[in-house]
Amino acid sequence: MELNEFMKDKKTISIVCNQWGDTGKGKFVDYFAKWADIIARGTGGANAGHTIILNEKKYVFHLVPSGILYDVDGKINIVGNGVAFDPRFFIEELDILDKEKVQYNNLKISLNAKLVMPYHLLFDRLKEVSLGSGKIGTTGRGIGPIYVDHYDRKGLVVNDMLNKNLFEKKLKRALVDKLKVLSLYDKNIVKEILMHPQLESGAFYNDETILDYNKIVEYYTEKYANRLRKYICDAEQFMKENVHKKKILLEGAQGLLLSIDHGSYPYVTSSDTTITGLVKGVGISEKDVDLNLGIVKAFYMTRVGQGPFPTEFGGVISDKHCSSSTKEAEQEMYPNASLESKDEMELGVAIRFIGQEYGATTKRPRRTGWLDLPLLRKAVLTNGPDLILTKVDVLSNAKIIKLCTAYEYTGEDYYYGSELVKTGDTITTAIVDSNILSQCKPIYKGFPGWLSEISKIKEYKGLPQNLRNIVEYIEKECKVNVRIVSIGPERDETIIKG
Ligand code: IMP
Repeated sequence: MELNEFMKDKKTISIVCNQWGDTGKGKFVDYFAKWADIIARGTGGANAGHTIILNEKKYVFHLVPSGILYDVDGKINIVGNGVAFDPRFFIEELDILDKEKVQYNNLKISLNAKLVMPYHLLFDRLKEVSLGSGKIGTTGRGIGPIYVDHYDRKGLVVNDMLNKNLFEKKLKRALVDKLKVLSLYDKNIVKEILMHPQLESGAFYNDETILDYNKIVEYYTEKYANRLRKYICDAEQFMKENVHKKKILLEGAQGLLLSIDHGSYPYVTSSDTTITGLVKGVGISEKDVDLNLGIVKAFYMTRVGQGPFPTEFGGVISDKHCSSSTKEAEQEMYPNASLESKDEMELGVAIRFIGQEYGATTKRPRRTGWLDLPLLRKAVLTNGPDLILTKVDVLSNAKIIKLCTAYEYTGEDYYYGSELVKTGDTITTAIVDSNILSQCKPIYKGFPGWLSEISKIKEYKGLPQNLRNIVEYIEKECKVNVRIVSIGPERDETIIKG
């Protein structure tokens, strides 16, 4: 089906991820940005990463909306009120756009976006050090602490940078407890973190007071404010005025299983990464969205950071390996890794290599496992039944593809509300409770692979029968509609199923 026909009668669409992020949202935001007049981001912050190729060079952007390259066509890119906005990261990205002569005249930053402060990054990193092996594996971008401050009513917002007196007052109030807590930490560790280039290489460090209040005021209300002033506006109001009139594309960040409200808590990020969080983060309602497309990497899945992952190839060994290894080191460690490997760890490494599953933000190897249908059944209850399957081509040379169709619970008796979950129970729709999820053994169904190149195929019915069998099994088993199948990284390697 052609894109125009698919988009007929649609004004607002959204793209979210139904897994743990890194499912190829960037490709589809770019794909639909051509159609849209407005592209808006509503959640997360510099923890997200998307790759953009500029003048044949590859850049990883974290905060600028993915539609920024279409600014030249008059399209409007919005950083919504729900975003954790780190001005230093943002300006660094604008500098790259300047260097590459990319214009961004139509950029709008919500005056209500949550302002990430140096102490948010500092506390994020300190907490991970203190938690040791119990850490979350955050990206260190201050995401947890900024949202805590927001809900604790101690946060600053982007607009505060433009009003120095109020900024100073709010900063003083925010710092009262923080300085007390900071005095309990090892001063050398605090200093080392504050010397990081992502914290202006020590500009906010002061030997006596630890955090340099005056420097924070100066950077935020002068250096950052002056650079960003002309883009800051009431983007929420703008969205409300334009919804149902202009064509709007909402760009999700991270994935449903990392949602603070719906994910595998506490191994989650600190925003609601679902469609519900996304619309709230740009100031509109779920009722305004004509089509929400949930991305599902298929037929394998990945996760970055700690937390349960029932189908992980290599289980806990892989989890440990991925938190400390690199792409180069694992290629040396597993020279025989291939899609034929009987050893699960090796199979995971092979898929990671073919799918280039290394973190855009952290460079960490992403943990890999088979596609998990119990988790998908759970995700679509929130994000709806319309799916995009991505990276399908990665397994074109696999003889066997397995899908996890259900779990066997292997833990101790556990009350989930009034329901008692017992060893040996079969679970078909995942219970996204870390205690349960970490004790679920996958039950698999094997499918023969299609063993042929697919990236030039243009229509769904041209795809190999063995591949379509798997797609249709997922549709039937999870009550979903696969609307689009992505068969390669390029724009035209996309099949609209309808
Ligand atoms: P935070 O968002 O930096 O607090 O990290 C919390 C968890 O979310 C960690 O497991 C991160 O690896 C994960 N995470 C955050 N952002 C992304 C993303 O964009 N893709 C995949 N995982 C992410």
